[in-house]
Amino acid sequence: MFIVCGFYGMPTALADEYSEIPTSISTEYSDTGVSEYPDNCEGIGYLPEYTKENLTDAEKRGRCTWYLWTGGNAKYYRDLAKRTHGGVDLLKLIDSRVHDERLQRYGAINDPGCEKATAPDEYGLWLDKCKDPLSTGVIGLRKFQNPNFDSAKWNPVEYAKTSQIEPPYVIGQSCAICHVALDPLNPPKDKEHPKWENLVAALGNQYIKENKLFASSVADNSFIKQVLDSQKPGTSDTSRIATDHINNPNAINSIFNLGDRPTYPEVMNDGSTKDVNHILKDGADSTGVPIASLRVYVNIGMCGDYWTSLHEPLLGRTPQKPFDIASKRRGRSAKAGDRQKHAWLMPKHS
Ligand code: HEC
Repeated sequence: MFIVCGFYGMPTALADEYSEIPTSISTEYSDTGVSEYPDNCEGIGYLPEYTKENLTDAEKRGRCTWYLWTGGNAKYYRDLAKRTHGGVDLLKLIDSRVHDERLQRYGAINDPGCEKATAPDEYGLWLDKCKDPLSTGVIGLRKFQNPNFDSAKWNPVEYAKTSQIEPPYVIGQSCAICHVALDPLNPPKDKEHPKWENLVAALGNQYIKENKLFASSVADNSFIKQVLDSQKPGTSDTSRIATDHINNPNAINSIFNLGDRPTYPEVMNDGSTKDVNHILKDGADSTGVPIASLRVYVNIGMCGDYWTSLHEPLLGRTPQKPFDIASKRRGRSAKAGDRQKHAWLMPKHS
């Protein structure tokens, strides 16, 4: 995927800048099991074969996208870590020393293909040992090399204080972090260490603690922390960024039968009228299933440079400006898989 996002007039190819090229699979892993993890996700990571039913090729690509693809949003989360002086820093969250408590602490689900680290890495970071080199150990958090990393300036102790030094890795988020859940019909024997067959893709993570996940280092006496701590597990405030100034976290929907949602006549850009499925609990999204789904990539940080120039992300003190989709699409690659990657999100497949 190749999406060009402008920033102060300078085009930035996010996918190029934060290359999703995997490093080689760790040989330290006790059971490399490479054949169990074929490179079936076109360079964005590895998933085991799905065994429950036969998937079409488009559905297989959609599964990869859902679990693994971040749309380059690692850049946005790195910016957020800097802006908040480490208050919101996904890199701190993936510390392997809490591997065995992630569900309890954050409602985060452990990647079944990862093991707890037994020692810090060459940068002094404790990271899970994973079969998938882009996995952080947490389902839905993905790890990339930071092109701005300078080993001469690196200092893990200083980094831990304010997150200002460029770290070796940047962390992106995929849809899976909120939407993948433990399967209530086939729950794991050990909830901190599920197997792939204990995970379901679209039910909605019933345990996620968004307050802990996204603001684990915010000071206890901060007003922001108090607001965040009013949030119930299993919920997400999807209008926190860009803020609507309402504290309204809500359960993560199970994504079923979107194509069967009620339709309403909507006027298209060319003036014609079409019946469009309304999405979200209250039917607030009137753009139809494909755009409602792609819109979420922007909400979670894709094209973050451009997006955050249109509003003040966390405090919302300036009026929001419209997101110009057409100009952000310039330079989209003609790579055959691009459109099909999202095909499963279309009404026909959902
Ligand atoms: C931070 C948590 C979070 C992440 C990450 C997330 N979602 Fe969601 N998603 C939610 C919540 C909460 C809802 C329910 C919102 C509502 O109905 O008001 C939702 C609902 C949806 C719906 C509508 C479902 C329905 O039943 O109407 C779609 C489609 C969707 N998400 C797609 C995505 C896609 C695609 C991604 C990845 C690009 C994604 N989500 C990432 C929290 C998240």
